[in-house]
Formats: sequence, structure tokens, C-alpha cells
Amino acid sequence: MANKDIKTLLADLDKIETDAKDKIAKIQDLKDLEDLKTKVLGRKSKLTNILKNIKNLDKEAKKELGSSANKLRVNLTNEFEQKTKNIQFKKLENISKEEAIDITLPGKVNRQGTIHPLTQMLHRAEDIFYRMGFEVVYANEVDDDYHNFQTVNIPEGHPARDSWDTFWTKDGHIAITHTSSMQNRILSAKEPPIRAVVPGRSFRNEATDARHEHTFTQIEGIYVDKGITFADMLGTLKTFFSEFFEQDMDILFSPDFFPFVEPGGMISLTCILCNGDGCDVCKKTGWLEILGCGMIHPKVLEMAKLDPNVYSGFAWGFGLERLIMLKSNIEDVRHFFSGNLKFIRQF
Ligand code: DAH
Repeated sequence: MANKDIKTLLADLDKIETDAKDKIAKIQDLKDLEDLKTKVLGRKSKLTNILKNIKNLDKEAKKELGSSANKLRVNLTNEFEQKTKNIQFKKLENISKEEAIDITLPGKVNRQGTIHPLTQMLHRAEDIFYRMGFEVVYANEVDDDYHNFQTVNIPEGHPARDSWDTFWTKDGHIAITHTSSMQNRILSAKEPPIRAVVPGRSFRNEATDARHEHTFTQIEGIYVDKGITFADMLGTLKTFFSEFFEQDMDILFSPDFFPFVEPGGMISLTCILCNGDGCDVCKKTGWLEILGCGMIHPKVLEMAKLDPNVYSGFAWGFGLERLIMLKSNIEDVRHFFSGNLKFIRQF
């Protein structure tokens, strides 16, 4: 070392500088950069070695080489720092590119929710009646004896009450057994013509099986005006069912008793499963009983302060579940309130 002249030593410094800068420029990794730094500036580096042996030089040379070597050290230290920052910045930039969340992309949803079949079909039924001029009135789910029974001509103690297995509250209210419970309110509210359908959950305190459920959706309907006839009722119901099932439906009336209508009866539809040929579901009759209906009893009109000598009308009530079961070939009414997603997602 001592023998090396100052020129050679300065040339060594130049070489250290160009070598180091070359390598720094190529490195892309922080660890590699750290290793290189130790090699170039560390205790065992050429540069340290030159600085260590500087004391052996004469004064002038010491000064010149000392100053150049220190400049180089500072210079290279800055280079390393700058490069470290560059690599870190690039890393961050890549992270923000690769891991960024694009908030403009639509969400990935494996399963979207569906509208419950009862709600879908309720809307469909309401829409059909609405287009026929009926307004939609929703029933109170809990009502009193007066509206659920007395105003529809079922006085206290009347044996007809046995037809409705009733849930009573402790204070004598009723989880409505039918949406006929709204008849009196609707008929009392305004002058005829009155056309309304009344959807609502209804409740029966009875054993459940594939065809009976403690809770079901009833759609009651009433039409009162001057000169309303039995034929109007048949025409209205036939039109509704044909629209609902999207095919021309035959209907059959057979007399039956409901205290709030006279005459009263049941409407049956051609069994859509066998097209009326007779199958197990329709018990080989070709017909399926689907709703109760009739001409509104004079007493019911009177209780709503309507004169039965001036006005007449008809009413009906059916369970929506029954209709959907037929339309969609569902074998058990208990599916509707089971909360079973497999069932619900089919619609
Ligand atoms: N409310 C009856 C029931 O739940 C159904 C019914 C039958 C309604 C005849 C009516 C009717 O309006 O006229 O069993």
C-alpha cells in the first residue's frame, strides 16, 4: 500500500465509485442492496482499507486522498440511501396497484335474495284485482269479536263459530280467523259502489298437515252496489282465475253454508293437474274446491248501515297458499312458513 503512488490510489477510488454505482443501478432488492453496502463501505471493504492505510502516506498525499476518499464515502452513502428509498417506493406503488380495491366493480354475490313465493303471488293477485277495479285493503292481524264474528252474522254463542278454531288472546281479542273481519269496516266507510280485496294472514287453532296450516294467507273480496248479481260474482271469479293461472279456467259452484252469505257456496276449479280427467289430488272428480263465496247476507249489509233493498253484493274468501300449490305443484302447505331456503329459492 505504502508503495502505491497517489495516482494509483485515486484511480482505485474512481474504480470503487464506478463499480459501486454500476451495481447499485442494477439492484432491485433491498437485501441485495444491504449486502452491497457492506461490501463497498463496510469494515472489510477496499475503501475502508485505503482509509486505514492513509496514515502511511506523506502529508500532501494524505490530504488529497483523505479528502477524496471521504467524499466518495459520503457520496456512496447517499447513493445507497437514495436507492433504498427508490426500491421501497416501487414496492409501495406495486402494492397499491396489485392489491388495490376497485370500488367501481360490481360486488360478487353468489346468491341474491328472492322474493318469497307468497309475496310474489300476492302481488300478482292484487294486481289482477286492481286492474278489475278493486282497491286493496290490508286486514288487522288481531281484531275483536265484533269484527271477526258478530258483524259477519255470527253472534256470540252461535254454533257456526265451531267452524273456525280460534286463537283468543287473554283479553278476548282474536288472531283473525279470516279477513272477512274487515267487511264491516269497508262497507261502513263509504257509499257504494264498493269494490275491495282484503289480503291478510289468518290463523286457525287446528292440527297441521300437508293441507292445513295454523297460519295462512286469505284474500277476501267484496263488491257491493245497486243491482249486483250472482252472475257478476261468477264472472269476476272466473276472470280472476283465468288471469292467475294464465289459461281459461272453468269454475263450478256448489251450495254450502257460510253465515255471512245467502246463497253461499264453494267454487271449484277444473283440476289443473289432470285437466279435469280425475286424479288423486282431485279425488277423481276433476274439480278442486278452492273458495267460499256467496251473495252478502242482508244482515251483514244492515250492520254496515246499507239498505239490502237498495244494495246487493257478493263476497268471497280463498287461501292464497292453495292457489300457489296448484300453480306450482307444491305438495305440502307447510313449506310456505318453514323458512326452508331450498324451497324458497325455487321461485
Ligand atoms: N271467511 C271464510 C273462511 O275463512 C271464507 C269465505 C266464505 C269468505 C264465503 C267469504 C264468503 O266472503 O262469502 O272460511
